[in-house]
Amino acid sequence: MQADLIVGIQWGDEGKGKIVDLLAQKYDYVVRYQGGHNAGHTIVIDGTKYALHLIPSGVLNPKAINVIGNGVVIAPDELLKEMAQFGDLRDRLFISEHAHLILDCHIAFDRAKETSLGGKAIGTTGCGIGPAYADKISRVGLRLCDLRNEAVMLEAIIARGGQLGIAVQDKATLKACVSRWADQLLPFAANATDILWDALDRNKKVLLEGAQGTLLDIDHGTYPFVTSSSTVAAGACTGTGLSPKEIGKVIGIAKAYCTRVGFGPFATEQINTTGDRLRTQGDEFGTTTGRPRRCGWFDVPLAKHACRINGVDELALMKLDVFDGFHMIEVCTKYENNRPVYKSFAGWKSLAGCRSFDDLPEPAKVYVLALEEMIGTKIALISTGADRNDTIYR
Ligand code: GDP
Ligand code: IMO
Ligand code: MG
Repeated sequence: MQADLIVGIQWGDEGKGKIVDLLAQKYDYVVRYQGGHNAGHTIVIDGTKYALHLIPSGVLNPKAINVIGNGVVIAPDELLKEMAQFGDLRDRLFISEHAHLILDCHIAFDRAKETSLGGKAIGTTGCGIGPAYADKISRVGLRLCDLRNEAVMLEAIIARGGQLGIAVQDKATLKACVSRWADQLLPFAANATDILWDALDRNKKVLLEGAQGTLLDIDHGTYPFVTSSSTVAAGACTGTGLSPKEIGKVIGIAKAYCTRVGFGPFATEQINTTGDRLRTQGDEFGTTTGRPRRCGWFDVPLAKHACRINGVDELALMKLDVFDGFHMIEVCTKYENNRPVYKSFAGWKSLAGCRSFDDLPEPAKVYVLALEEMIGTKIALISTGADRNDTIYR
């Protein structure tokens, strides 16, 4: 058996959480493989909204087993806070003992660095992601398994704070923290790779849940305005221990337009009433930081690039309903002299009540089919609202 994969093909917030939750109903395992609590994956079930940051979006399906892979960076208190919402997770959540920890000094360092960069800041989420991955790559990081030796862990945290020039809590408070993390997190620590191999060997269905999006990838994104992990499909292999041969279907998640939080290039951004309208109608405010998202038109060349990098088999096109009431929709079809060239499409009144492709107003069908044709990848699913039910399969 192979694992299927969900990956964002823009700058994150494409609606991955909704699709993972929806698909999780048919999967046995849901796995996060990179990123940390910078991710904010929203799920809406019968009007109730859940925001997940670290726990895989399978958690709302009682039968799914959730795995946090070695490629994820974990802020212990953030994870514990999130776990507390879901009752007893024993036997439903496994965390790779090799996942690196985000320490308070990483969070403070991330924020201080952003402030010092002034006008050149990245616009990070301030979650300590960059500094934690930097420590991992520099081979000075602390991992979940290191909590097994509390005394060594305590000294290492104090030393790391000192090296980064960040004041850490007093030793007694920190000691209590480390003890609490060990007590509450070590029962979930596991060899996540073995768990996934075993699951695949038993023909269990495994779904890998990407965080962020392709254009925020450390290698393939708009560097340096990126996050610090491998957000692309390949990151699922390093972030879990699965080989490329164990990856099956790759599902790319795309919004029907583009958004971006934080700084960096965004050629189709609309800093005008169109952008404002997309933000209002799409409720485009960050799940993690509450920041307003920058909004603009769909970018076909970037989508094609992302589909190739990830080997996307099929796309889910999200938030099509956000165009309700638009008279005209534009799409960047190519770049000439580094400038986007747009094609215009007619808008529609409302997608309310549409439950099949045939139900969609003609202009919405034209828009979807045109994107599919231009990107060259099948759009297998269309989302017309945040709820599980607002989903059209093709
Ligand atoms: P993720 O990070 O990719 O999981 O996406 P986010 O959860 O950060 O952002 C997507 C937002 O759009 C969330 O508030 C979702 O509830 C919402 N959403 C998802 N699909 C749709 C849709 O088809 N239509 C509308 N209007 N909202 C959607
Ligand atoms: P989900 O999983 C959108 C952005 C930040 C910033 C850059 C680097 O919800 O799609 P970081 O804190 O990671 O060092 O910030 O990456 N960013 C996201 N943007 N969705 C996300 O996650 C993001 N995670 C990080 O805004 O521009
Ligand atoms: Mg998000």
